[in-house]
Amino acid sequence: MPSALMQQLKETAEYIQAQYPHTPKTGIILGSGLGNFTSEINIEKEIPYTDLPHFPVSTVVGHSGKLILGELNGAKVVVMAGRFHFYEGYSPLQVSYPVRVMKMLGVETLLLSNAAGGVQAGFKVGDLMIIKDHISLFTINPLLGPNEEELGTRFPDMSEPYNKALIAKAREVGQRLGYNLKEGVYTGVTGPTFETHAEYRLIKAIGGDAVGMSTVQEVIVAIHAGMKVFAVSVITDLGIRDDDTSIITHEEVLAAAKDAEPKLTALFKEMVS
Ligand code: HPA
Repeated sequence: MPSALMQQLKETAEYIQAQYPHTPKTGIILGSGLGNFTSEINIEKEIPYTDLPHFPVSTVVGHSGKLILGELNGAKVVVMAGRFHFYEGYSPLQVSYPVRVMKMLGVETLLLSNAAGGVQAGFKVGDLMIIKDHISLFTINPLLGPNEEELGTRFPDMSEPYNKALIAKAREVGQRLGYNLKEGVYTGVTGPTFETHAEYRLIKAIGGDAVGMSTVQEVIVAIHAGMKVFAVSVITDLGIRDDDTSIITHEEVLAAAKDAEPKLTALFKEMVS
């Protein structure tokens, strides 16, 4: 007997495959304010999350909430336009559910983007940071609970969550396109509060270069499932800043992400080819 989770995953995947009988090898999960990326895709099928059996539904402003299937730079891709965040009240299982659906569809490589606050000296708003590693400050690991042996091992190794070959390729693409790509450690927090000054300093002290409210739980599940992962943060605000009277708003985060979108799009387009 398959577990309830495996049964649900199969039903979601079969629903998608009935409408889109192709195998996307690359999955893409887009962060806040980065939804226009999809205009680059030769869209073959769009499925609103609300139509997908067992799929959570996105609520936050700036997330359109649909699965896009099609071609990007000659490669079949499945793209989540809008993701599920822990701070919205979804369980880590729900946050990472789409990653497992992608796996069932045949995805081997997962590209993710997010908006993040910079804590590294020298980072500027609008910078793109290749994520080299992460620190999870989420209190709940998405793999807690019975292990789904069909999906992956009980104790996954996390020594290379972000694939080194894909990072090398991104460096090469960045150089060719004339981008000054930063690199660093992404620190995943639950949100929805932005951090206090003391928390931003703590994140820097423990080795974080940027901080954000997504990605880590999805990446853990992708690694569990044996996928290759590549992720980029758009630095949308500076946690550690000289001017400690300024505040951080969701609007400025979205605006900064939108400004950086063309660069991120060009980078991802090269990454899938
Ligand atoms: N902190 C946490 N999450 C974020 C930030 C931040 O400063 N900016 C964008 N997402």
